[in-house]
Amino acid sequence: MTSSAPILDLPEHEVHLWFAPVPASFDPSHVAAWDALLAPHERERQQRFHFEKDRRRHLLTRALARTTLSRYAPIDPADWTFAPNAHGRPAITNALATDLHFNLTHSGSLVALAVTVGREIGIDTEDTGRHAPLEVADRYFSADEATALRQLPAANQAARFWELWTFKESYIKARGLGLALPLDGFSFRFDGERHIDIAFGPAIDDDPARWQFRQLRPNPQHLLALCVEDRSGVPLDIVCREARPLFGEHVVDIATLRASPQPPA
Ligand SMILES: CC(C)(COP(=O)(O)OP(=O)(O)OC[C@H]1O[C@@H](n2cnc3c(N)ncnc32)[C@H](O)[C@@H]1OP(=O)(O)O)[C@@H](O)C(=O)NCCC(=O)NCCS
Repeated sequence: MTSSAPILDLPEHEVHLWFAPVPASFDPSHVAAWDALLAPHERERQQRFHFEKDRRRHLLTRALARTTLSRYAPIDPADWTFAPNAHGRPAITNALATDLHFNLTHSGSLVALAVTVGREIGIDTEDTGRHAPLEVADRYFSADEATALRQLPAANQAARFWELWTFKESYIKARGLGLALPLDGFSFRFDGERHIDIAFGPAIDDDPARWQFRQLRPNPQHLLALCVEDRSGVPLDIVCREARPLFGEHVVDIATLRASPQPPA
């Protein structure tokens, strides 16, 4: 991929999902090319990370965001400008691309970015190979979610924990409010193998019909949840690509595991 890569068509019913695996070692020529894309405040932020691995992942994340967004608008990767909302979510401020929405997530060896036109979107991935801290369920989940989690066979609880965590994060990120939303004010219900539903308590003024959810497993370690504003009721198409920013990309076929309102055929 180069900054002159062709503009991609992104219809309103599609979500484009981009993955960048974090390499074990970074090619110096890639580091130099990605660093040249950063804004001064991004370079300053990068220097504040204590560990080299975090600095490198931050660099890859910025490069993925900038080069990917340039696939959807005639703006060079280095020319994107962003402003955070009051809760930290960056939004695009370039006048040529105000209808483009994106959200990104990183966990361990994976960076993922979701892009839509005209729809709010939230994305979360977690490395599920890690220990699941089941003891924090009461703090992060609603009473219904925590009870349902504890009623599962012990062997299934860690997997459900990560499902809940990623879905809940995807919703609070789509709202752009982060942890300002009460995490116990909404609940996910798991109905069968492939279905997921959200329900809101009185503390959250929202409508389940306003959102579509998807769950994917981009690689054996990572679980990923998407929350996408539902404008039309038209089922979403998810198009996935893996990229090494500026140096290559390919389409990847990743199955949807769970969906709301209903799993695609
Ligand atoms: C900041 C937060 C939005 C996500 O944090 P996270 O899961 O640690 O991190 P992720 O990698 O998934 O996402 C971070 C990215 O989301 C974006 N982001 C930041 N604030 C955001 C917000 N309010 N809304 C949406 N996206 C936001 C940023 O692009 C950020 O990446 P960057 O800093 O490299 O630009 C917030 O939900 C949080 O602090 N979570 C802490 C974990 C937690 O307690 N979760 C409860 C789960 S039930």
